Amino acid sequence: MPTQPNSPYLPFGDHKNAPWYGKDIISVKQFSRADLEYVFGVAHEMHGMVDRVGTFDLLKGKILANLFYEPSTRTSSSFTAAMERLGGSVIPINEVKYSSVAKGESLPDTIRTLECYADVIVLRHPETGSAAIAAQAARKPVINAGDGIGEHPTQALLDTFTIFEELGAGQIDGMTVTMLGDLKYGRTVHSLARLLSLYKVKLNYVSPEILRMPKEVMEEVAAKGIPQAEFDSLEKVLPKTDVLYVTRVQKERFEDPEAYESVRGSFVVNPDIMRAAKKEMIVMHPLPRVGEISPDFDDDPRAAYFRQMEYGLYVRMALLAMVLGKA
Ligand code: ASP
Ligand code: CP
Repeated sequence: MPTQPNSPYLPFGDHKNAPWYGKDIISVKQFSRADLEYVFGVAHEMHGMVDRVGTFDLLKGKILANLFYEPSTRTSSSFTAAMERLGGSVIPINEVKYSSVAKGESLPDTIRTLECYADVIVLRHPETGSAAIAAQAARKPVINAGDGIGEHPTQALLDTFTIFEELGAGQIDGMTVTMLGDLKYGRTVHSLARLLSLYKVKLNYVSPEILRMPKEVMEEVAAKGIPQAEFDSLEKVLPKTDVLYVTRVQKERFEDPEAYESVRGSFVVNPDIMRAAKKEMIVMHPLPRVGEISPDFDDDPRAAYFRQMEYGLYVRMALLAMVLGKA
């Protein structure tokens, strides 16, 4: 196993007194600015290791249970890839209908079962608060991979890492971040707004009237002294935006299909609209996109959403290593 002699985060070894050893990751509220610097330092080194050696044995013998009650491509496969690149292995439960969940097994019992076989559990579930319930039932670390419209903390960590890597860590204070789309049901923006409130950013929220950022999130962000403003069109804010964070209207969360139809396709980012934006800025999206960003924009250097997915691998490698006491 190659080592990193000059690394503040690695050489790899056992760090059982490390602050994140054995911890759950449920909400971005658990992270301070210093924690983020640490996570991003480890993630940066994971990137270097993947480039140099591809796969290595940091988590050899460790097992991840990947438990997904909702669809996922990126989160599920990047946690799998992260574990395997670190030499560990994965129990995948991507379709709970083929597990004993379909027989009526409760979430706490399912978690108690999986922790008999695994060292860490990654959970995506449609109910807000489910990850906290799972963590209470578990002795092993639980990582929230999205709990309904609540949070998606590992996404917000990789989003912030993307901003650091793309625009420079020193630049984040003073940045204007504009979140666009479904701010009501989008769990990624709930986590990201909270996490960015650790920095001196300015937040703009652009959405249809019925999809505004929840008051609860805005109040938490306001309590950190972060300026926030709401808009119903992108025009006014785009020229000053450093990060445009586009989101999908979350069709599956609507009770009324007509309400979904009324806001579907409200905003589409395309090369024409982006002429009004800065040259040095980035466009992000947690993905999947379903029409909010036109594919003709994909070749623009400001389109960071595919690079963002790759950064997710390194952040998830860092998080697994941290909670398993190896970073
Ligand atoms: N993939 C992200 C999530 O699961 C965003 C989305 O689905 O629109 O929250
Ligand atoms: N960004 C994200 O969570 O993607 P998936 O839903 O595909 O996991």
